[in-house]
Amino acid sequence: MGVNVNTFSRMKAEGEKVVFLTAYDWMLARYVAEAKVDGILVGDSVAQVFGGHDSTLPATLDEMIYHARAARRGAPDVFLIVDMPFLSFQISPEDTLRNAGRVMKETGAQGVKLEGGARLAETIRRLTDIGIPVMGHLGLTPQSIHAFGGYGLRAADEASGDELVADATALSEAGCFAIVLEKIPRDLGARVTAEIPAITLGIGAGPETDGQILVTHDVLGMTPDFEPKFVRRYADLDQVVAGALENFVTDVRAGRFPGEAESFE
Ligand code: KIV
Repeated sequence: MGVNVNTFSRMKAEGEKVVFLTAYDWMLARYVAEAKVDGILVGDSVAQVFGGHDSTLPATLDEMIYHARAARRGAPDVFLIVDMPFLSFQISPEDTLRNAGRVMKETGAQGVKLEGGARLAETIRRLTDIGIPVMGHLGLTPQSIHAFGGYGLRAADEASGDELVADATALSEAGCFAIVLEKIPRDLGARVTAEIPAITLGIGAGPETDGQILVTHDVLGMTPDFEPKFVRRYADLDQVVAGALENFVTDVRAGRFPGEAESFE
């Protein structure tokens, strides 16, 4: 067996950094797999990055399954986690089990991710009891964006920092093997990482977390209007793609495409 939940406990114990990236389709999943990540997240950010919505809320369970199946085909051997979309895990533990069970049966994923704190402990226990590994997600949890009123830094004061630590502890005790920590102060990322056995994956939580996770399209510079402080762009694909397509259109209009090379005798 390749990477599995036990791999991450070992990596945490040995201080080895864990790397996750998102993928929602076969093609990008292939590249992400070739980069030798430790895991892929089929995030509900697909609703924004792929679907053009202004939040993650519209993602449906069927859409998540569709994208996870495509990503799985592109990265058949990579540890794969699927985000449970808004309203697929909040109604009742029974409903969550049915929905998470569908994800596991229909996508070949190794686990699911749920956004939220201690109130999910019972649900997480039920999932892990039937053998479904769970990744938690705390801090800036985008499914709650309307309750937060914006994408600002979370848990910035001492009381909310303590609350986040309590949530992380509850999730870890309920059986989460990993917790995403999004957009929280660096010190808090370090504190949670030191206090819980589950691995922490930071996205804007500083360098001390057990690992990092980013949206691949952000890393590749394909989301030009999205410039959060926690993203580092490793390419400028937006410019590359725009330039290439503009050149194609210009060439067709100027009669330069197709040329000899693209024509048959
Ligand atoms: O949906 C997503 O892509 C995520 C990551 C940003 C962690 O939850």
